[in-house]
Amino acid sequence: MGLTIGIDVGGTKIAAGVVGTDGTIGARAHRDTPATSVDETARAICDAAAELIAQYEVEAVGIGAAGFVSSDRSTVLFAPNLAWRDEPLGRRVADVLQVPVVVENDANAAAWGEFAFGAAKDVEHMVCVTVGTGIGGGVVIDGELLRGAHGVAAELGHMRVVPGGHRCGCGARGCLEQYASGSALVREGRAQAESGSLAAAQMLSVCGITDPAELTGPMITQAASAGDPCAVELLDDLGRWLGEGLASFATLFDPSTIVIGGGVSAAKELLVKSAQVAFEKNLPARANRPHPRFGLAQLGNDAGIIGAADLARRPAPAQADVA
Ligand code: BGC
Ligand code: NA
Ligand code: ZN
Repeated sequence: MGLTIGIDVGGTKIAAGVVGTDGTIGARAHRDTPATSVDETARAICDAAAELIAQYEVEAVGIGAAGFVSSDRSTVLFAPNLAWRDEPLGRRVADVLQVPVVVENDANAAAWGEFAFGAAKDVEHMVCVTVGTGIGGGVVIDGELLRGAHGVAAELGHMRVVPGGHRCGCGARGCLEQYASGSALVREGRAQAESGSLAAAQMLSVCGITDPAELTGPMITQAASAGDPCAVELLDDLGRWLGEGLASFATLFDPSTIVIGGGVSAAKELLVKSAQVAFEKNLPARANRPHPRFGLAQLGNDAGIIGAADLARRPAPAQADVA
């Protein structure tokens, strides 16, 4: 196969690219993710893809969607942070574009991108977490993407880390996503500002705002890069939660490489260092086992586009076990 399109559909942005077999992106197209309407989301995805199809001959489209995706790679069963419920996204987009479309979980796509072309291209066992609006997970074992019986394995953001903790968009309580995602970062930052903390007030002024409700994740990341103590501490906490979660994932999957990606990974070393420290401290049998290599997504925010495009050229996995 020649060119395919990869489309990363996140909580706030839709990013599409034409990708070659070597994983390089040619042209790109962007749209905002419509907040609530699944119809508008499908339309925006089709729009972005059509813009590229008008310029290139493409053979298939891969969509990385931020939710639980069926094993036949067509339906988004559920999305904790978006409006999809049993949404036949693949069929809808294929009907409009008239090219084959596969839907993959966004973090699976990002993991695959890093495995095939990025930070884990020289290994066979890797775990990737994406830290953005939610926390996504992708696991490659023996060179194969872990999908589970129903396509929804490796939902690493929904591992329980606090019994009875914060309610999550998935309906459960205490998921890692409620402590280590960009949304959690903003929730904590706003809570500190609302509590009247002087350090948080200082952070708001570094961000150029006065109303805590205006605080965003990228603002906190920027303030932290500028050395603001409150923002640094917020990212440090987030990294610690993440590192502790990763220690559990390493316990399960024994990867040789752990990759951290997603929007919040723009915080780079600030996040990775504290995650790694917490990881090393919490890895079971830490003194008596090999530790995985730790790194940032090499493909950055393009991992999902590149991975989805590459997965679109691969045959569908075997169907689920019959229940
Ligand atoms: C969803 C995942 C998704 C992740 C990152 C989570 O809330 O359950 O399916 O991969 O967010 O977008
Ligand atoms: Na996943
Ligand atoms: Zn959850």
